[in-house]
Amino acid sequence: MAKKPLNVGIVGYGFMGRTHSNAFSQVNHFFDVPYRPVLKAVCARDAGKAKTFAEQWGYESVETDWRKLVERKDIDVIDIASPNDTHHDIAIAAAKAGKMVMCEKPLGRSAAESLKMVEAVEKSKVPNMVWYNYRRVPAVTLAKQLIDEGKLGRIFHYRAKFLQDWTISKDLPQGGQGLWRLDVDVAGSGVTGDLLAHCIDTAMWLNGGITKVSGMTETFIKERHHNITGKKEVVGIDDASLFLARFANGSLASFEATRYARGHKALYTFEINGENASIAWDLHDLHRLQYFDHRDEGRTRGWRSLHITDGDHPYMDKWWVPGLQIGYEHTFIHQVADFLDAVGGGKVAAPTFRDALATDRVTDAVLKSARTGQWENAND
Ligand SMILES: NC(=O)c1ccc[n+]([C@@H]2O[C@H](COP(=O)([O-])OP(=O)(O)OC[C@H]3O[C@@H](n4cnc5c(N)ncnc54)[C@H](O)[C@@H]3O)[C@@H](O)[C@H]2O)c1
Repeated sequence: MAKKPLNVGIVGYGFMGRTHSNAFSQVNHFFDVPYRPVLKAVCARDAGKAKTFAEQWGYESVETDWRKLVERKDIDVIDIASPNDTHHDIAIAAAKAGKMVMCEKPLGRSAAESLKMVEAVEKSKVPNMVWYNYRRVPAVTLAKQLIDEGKLGRIFHYRAKFLQDWTISKDLPQGGQGLWRLDVDVAGSGVTGDLLAHCIDTAMWLNGGITKVSGMTETFIKERHHNITGKKEVVGIDDASLFLARFANGSLASFEATRYARGHKALYTFEINGENASIAWDLHDLHRLQYFDHRDEGRTRGWRSLHITDGDHPYMDKWWVPGLQIGYEHTFIHQVADFLDAVGGGKVAAPTFRDALATDRVTDAVLKSARTGQWENAND
């Protein structure tokens, strides 16, 4: 049956602009979903670069002002793949214009911004989703299934890390193209909102809500040249962020993110310990799930390294043949597939803006705790 077209207007042609465009282009090749995304328009401030991107990816047109994009009658979904300081205004305008909204993470630069975005999409009743794509790594989705089936039993511990090393040089400037993540006005925070937000979204999806946190942050390089002001400016972001947490289910957690872990580029790992079983996952080996089940016969009990490539693993029946693995870009394709299925079936596509607000409340609480030195509530 012919699929209904769904006209996409994307803001941003950077790293995420590419992953999203690839996902919209590929989804119908592999998933039987009710819609066919049409790459209608790409929006970025530099018309020339946007045009080159449009030609490379097959967008039909270019806009240089997101307000124009949002006003266009021929756009069904606004996809926000631009830096964090743009999310709030674009999402609210898009919701008011009755568009579906897909937004990159973190939803806002603070929970206060995110709350306004949630109110806007809920008031307009438009489908909305935030790109916490790690939920759609098949091994992580399998972890969710195993936990929901009770395989781990009562959960005692959750441990997550996200380690990088790309900002160690004191000569690295802040601000502007490629370096907006170091500019607090644009990013909202440092690794707390950028990296820990991923860990927190996955953690709360797998293990339920976080109630309290105790955090510690550090900015190792205090001043950096600012690419936009041209002056040396104080660095306002957190370079490293660690926190302890209590979950509503009684389990205890530790989280760590830094851009100062020499040798690590994007090492996202988590481990969960339950009374019957434990699981562990590592982004560098994303197609594997480590599983230990204490109920196995003692003589052969041990950590199993599950290769998540078989047809009965999440999403994998849509890809190649058993034994052949998929990678990072597929998580975005899965997210688009789930979004289109949900929209077609009148269902909610998670994580919604409201789900992402819960994550921003935790990151706010971590930053507050780092300032006050006290335990802080994570769901205020
Ligand atoms: N889900 C993930 O794993 C993941 C990974 C990386 C980034 N992100 C998020 O995606 C967003 C974009 O990050 P990125 O790494 O793609 O950044 P990037 O710097 O690679 O690209 C940003 C793009 O936004 C455009 N842009 C900036 N301001 C704009 C404006 N006012 N109007 C229109 N376009 C504008 C830039 O020209 C550029 O094309 C951020 O919110 C980031 O946190 C998520």
